[in-house]
Amino acid sequence: MGYQASYRRSLDDPEGFWGDAASAVDWYKTWDKVLDDSEAPFYHWFRGAELNTCYNAIDRHVVAGRGSQDALIYDSPVTDTKSRITYLELQDKVSHVAGALRDMGVAKGDRVIIYMPMVPETAMAMLACARIGAIHSVVFGGFAARELATRIDDAKPTAVLSASCGIEVNKVIPYKPLLDEALEIATHEPEHCLILQRPQCAAALTSGRDLDWSDAVAAAEPASCVPVAATDPLYILYTSGTTGEPKGVVRDHGGHAVALTWSMEYVYGVEPGDVFWAASDVGWVVGHSYIVYGPLFYGCTTVLYEGKPVGTPDPGAFWRVISEHKVRVMFTAPTAFRAIKREDSHGDYVKRYDLSCLKTLFLAGERCDPDTLDWAGKMLGVPVIDHWWQTETGWPIAADCMGLEQLPIKPGSPTCAVPGYDVRVLDNDGIEVPDGEIGSIMIRLPLPPGTLTTLWNNDARFVDSYLATHEGWYLTGDAGYRDEDAYLWVMSRIDDIINTAGHRLSTGGMEEVLSAHPDVAETAVIGVADELKGELPVGLVVLKSDVDRPEEEIKAELVAMIREKIGPVASFKKVSIVQRLPKTRSGKVLRGIMRNIADSKEYKMPATIDDPRILGEIEQALKTIGYAKD
Ligand code: COA
Ligand code: AMP
Repeated sequence: MGYQASYRRSLDDPEGFWGDAASAVDWYKTWDKVLDDSEAPFYHWFRGAELNTCYNAIDRHVVAGRGSQDALIYDSPVTDTKSRITYLELQDKVSHVAGALRDMGVAKGDRVIIYMPMVPETAMAMLACARIGAIHSVVFGGFAARELATRIDDAKPTAVLSASCGIEVNKVIPYKPLLDEALEIATHEPEHCLILQRPQCAAALTSGRDLDWSDAVAAAEPASCVPVAATDPLYILYTSGTTGEPKGVVRDHGGHAVALTWSMEYVYGVEPGDVFWAASDVGWVVGHSYIVYGPLFYGCTTVLYEGKPVGTPDPGAFWRVISEHKVRVMFTAPTAFRAIKREDSHGDYVKRYDLSCLKTLFLAGERCDPDTLDWAGKMLGVPVIDHWWQTETGWPIAADCMGLEQLPIKPGSPTCAVPGYDVRVLDNDGIEVPDGEIGSIMIRLPLPPGTLTTLWNNDARFVDSYLATHEGWYLTGDAGYRDEDAYLWVMSRIDDIINTAGHRLSTGGMEEVLSAHPDVAETAVIGVADELKGELPVGLVVLKSDVDRPEEEIKAELVAMIREKIGPVASFKKVSIVQRLPKTRSGKVLRGIMRNIADSKEYKMPATIDDPRILGEIEQALKTIGYAKD
């Protein structure tokens, strides 16, 4: 079936479409109804069915004869390690980790926080939770202790799984002190912490609470797969909202298994046995869906890469991994390619490797600029597919579906809506705008399987954040347009979210941190364009009138505060002190205009601006930190 026919069927007959797709998943019990809409706007896919996510990712492949195939390749230039784990070995290892969790008192429905680096044990931890029906919540290692504490208090985990350290290029980052600090800050106390000791750094264990990973796993009896309801939560993944309070996106078991399995075949166009590599981090949704679950559901070999596109050791790192492990389909963020291009614009490193195994490159996580798309295509000689999705959806909303048919590429557009997503561009009144006109990109309910079912413990915030703008529609938070060929053009966010190096950050959350500084009266954080990272946060701060300390000292403190409270991943390095912030007469800070000034873009003076002279002051302030160039 081609793209059009598949897309139409998915919208005209969603139950038939997804019911058929579900036959690629193994169930203990099939569903009473493919789509239960009796509690709309909460929709339940495959209600009444039972399955086990870990069984679908591992055990069934062993049963089907894939036991000796590599399930996971670990490639870690930062520790000079490469290893391969077959499906049979993974089954054994995951069963033992699951047994250790059970021994720690973790039962079906309990939460487990995983704060770990890019090592195979992290994927094993996720799969082990799924095996016994526990709900995992992976927290990205680049977040600070306070962010981890917020997630611990929200998820209330029975156990936390962590490691002694992460490794960032050549820096060893001890994780255990961050975990200990987070547990000090948090009010919730997990019963146990299971700590993986890495040779690069030993962590001190708190007796009674902390257990050594190797000892606990060696002592555990293997645990078998527990049937869970298709509608039970598989995981919670926290993502930035417009405030400092992260949103706990909840993903179910059944819809997730069906949608990801379908996407491997039809979006990514791979075959079981192929090597699939998502160069991301397991802490992000890309890592959940396409380092761990998707490739394993589909019987592929997944690559878990602990390194960077550059510096580990050179801009040929990605090409080495592709050629060495025979990667067929690769997925990363455009920023990784910008980093490589900056160091090797002529592609000298590309020429050193045989990349004939590679069939397609997929890019996502941020808007892909046509230059980067073009460069990647020229270097690799394969189709480069920009596709659009978000933590909330868990799998692509718009893409060139390589397993259906390849549509012509229009650089700058992630092509058309993927089957299952009825994507429209609406105006403020909820009316669809004509093709070519910018509006709010929304998706008609119900969302397809595999997308978020709610926010953890917060149905009200789920409705309020995503479903309340126009009844019957999901708000993506992205603005853009659809062209005459139904291609989508995703241009910007409509909220305070920015994308830095493919990492989603809340400028509102940063403002909350800066406002807590005793000398600060008012603050605005804006996302300005950056050649490498796409966007970078920049702070504009008004000090209290009686402050007479040196400005440089205060600025350094503000930078340090964001690093300490949110984490290094925020990449917050630039702040400017200003006398006032531009506002409307009703007091709304004009962040969009400041962003345009910083990026030297034209802007319209709003009629409601309180005092236009402030914009000149802002321009001067931004010039002093390298923006608003003429
Ligand atoms: N644990 C601890 N610290 C981390 C971390 C982790 N898992 N990940 C990042 N950090 C730190 C970095 O060390 C850096 O710290 P520094 O300020 O001391 O240098 C900071 O957070 C910012 O990291 P990052 O934004 O990754 O910048 P970078 O300069 O280290 O690397 C790129 C830039 C483009 C090479 C890198 O961002 C990259 O490879 N991006 C790929 C995109 C990606 O994986 N996106 C995920 C979604 S698909
Ligand atoms: P995250 O939840 O971290 O995956 O971030 C999701 C957001 O990243 C989206 O809402 C978009 O704003 C942006 N994004 C992701 N992929 C793309 C893309 N291909 N084109 C444009 N924006 C994208």
